[in-house]
Amino acid sequence: MRPLLEVDDIHVRYGDLVALRGVSLHVDEGEVVCIIGPNGAGKSTTLAAVAGGVAPFRGEIRLAGEPLTGRRPEAIARLGLSLVPEGRHIFGTLTVDENLKLGGHVQSDKRRAADDKERLLDLFPRLRERLSFPAGRLSGGEQQMLAVARAVMTRPKLLLVDEPSLGLAPRIVDQIYEILLDLRRRENLTLLINEQSSNRILKHADRIHVLRGGRIQLEGRADALRDGEAIRNAYFGFSHGSAPAPVQETHA
Ligand SMILES: Nc1ncnc2c1ncn2[C@@H]1O[C@H](COP(=O)(O)OP(=O)(O)OP(=O)(O)O)[C@@H](O)[C@H]1O
Ligand SMILES: [Mg+2]
Repeated sequence: MRPLLEVDDIHVRYGDLVALRGVSLHVDEGEVVCIIGPNGAGKSTTLAAVAGGVAPFRGEIRLAGEPLTGRRPEAIARLGLSLVPEGRHIFGTLTVDENLKLGGHVQSDKRRAADDKERLLDLFPRLRERLSFPAGRLSGGEQQMLAVARAVMTRPKLLLVDEPSLGLAPRIVDQIYEILLDLRRRENLTLLINEQSSNRILKHADRIHVLRGGRIQLEGRADALRDGEAIRNAYFGFSHGSAPAPVQETHA
């Protein structure tokens, strides 16, 4: 069967800086695929290219066989793709309810938008209790839940999530992943997720890609990479067989 998302040899530049140098990956329907890489690896750029925020100068991206390259972000969203951006981008002075309404903005049918909100609040009971709170007063984990809830208002087929763990305690990271995996089951979602660290992610993802310097350095099934050594070598650029210096894990 054809993958839901196909990213085929994309190259992206910002002025003189080439951020992606031939990134290829695919995500099958129902999969949870993770891109791991250090600062500046090109993770956000990859998701931005898929969502239409930046235009690759080479390569192709397809969603369910439809070419995305050259389409505007709103048109891509209508094809069933939604992005939870890095840093969440919720509106702190607006209430939780108002933030959710903004998520439904491509939804022209008001009745359906209201049904979608009810369905979401069943999935996120914590948000139901806090509907009239200013979003800026939520905890980091609750803000991440709100960002995810807003992104799934429109019933996407594919959800892109940029560093959901950022700044969250390990226990909260696990909760966020449980919510994402629950959404996969209940909403038939497919997930492509960026993270800086593979800690805690390996147990939740089906497949992992390590991105560094704008290139995929390693790709494999999460269960096969569980001991972490191949990931560390790809992440830090150790050549195969060279003895890596002791490394400190810098991210929770
Ligand atoms: N809007 C931009 N203009 C110019 N350069 C950019 C822009 N966005 C990203 N870059 C550069 O492109 C490269 C890849 O950045 P990107 O944000 O995709 O990395 P990342 O893997 O998401 O990093 P992080 O883990 O810090 O979020 C970096 O060198 C970055 O400085
Ligand atoms: Mg990033």
